[in-house]
Amino acid sequence: MPEKKLATGDQPILLEGTKLIPIYIMGKKYDVPESVTIMKALEYAGYQLIRGSGCRGGVCGACATVYRKKDDYKLYTGLACQTVVEPEMYLTQIPFYPAFRSIHNLELLKPEVDEIVKLYPEILKCMGCNTCTKECPQELEVMEFISAALRGDFEKVAELSFHCIMCGICTSRCPAQISQYNIAILIRRLYGKNLMPESSKLERMVEEIKVGKYDRLLDELALKTMDEITELYKKREIEPQISEDWKAKDIQYL
Ligand code: SF4
Ligand code: SF4
Ligand code: FES
Repeated sequence: MPEKKLATGDQPILLEGTKLIPIYIMGKKYDVPESVTIMKALEYAGYQLIRGSGCRGGVCGACATVYRKKDDYKLYTGLACQTVVEPEMYLTQIPFYPAFRSIHNLELLKPEVDEIVKLYPEILKCMGCNTCTKECPQELEVMEFISAALRGDFEKVAELSFHCIMCGICTSRCPAQISQYNIAILIRRLYGKNLMPESSKLERMVEEIKVGKYDRLLDELALKTMDEITELYKKREIEPQISEDWKAKDIQYL
């Protein structure tokens, strides 16, 4: 079994006979276990990930990576925590894309396409090449939400971009230099603030908090030990990801 001291992160426990494969990290060759993610391979090679790592589950967008495969001229992109290493892969991580982000005051912006064009005029240069969609590790329809932004259909932008993790990969490949994810988050904010129907439930709950409905429960919670709180947290009811008619069984907190 190969022996290697790890600097940080998950410690891969290698099964007897695990094959090591060569990869190149920033041009330097390392032998790493096959079938691990790029992130684990980086750590196996001794890199300490201070930037370029967060959730390790494909949701924070911190680990954008550019790589090339053996005998292939194409540059590929992906998330280091989700992409599995391949023999003779050449890679480097890009923990931060310095993409353009407008400075604006949300309170003064109208939810209109002209405001977006004023802040991000380059959006008009979109040539419909679809590169952004093909590169998105979340498989979002990036080109579609940019078109929807240009049509002023902010609801569609919010819907199509909702799972964007701000990794920046789309922007890095866009020939028109559009920062799709910064445009999308601005539109989601504008949509949420100005266009989305208000939640009656939220208003009701704010009122209930104001009149002290939850004071006793909060006081009880404050007296619990960490173990008791952990237990309560583990036992909580969780709304399923997709559900038309889910209702909590215990409604004392609702
Ligand atoms: S839309 Fe862009 S920033 Fe968002 S997840 Fe996809 S590639 Fe990353
Ligand atoms: S990569 Fe850029 S130019 Fe191409 S479709 Fe996406 S936003 Fe438009
Ligand atoms: S570490 Fe969060 S997406 Fe990879």
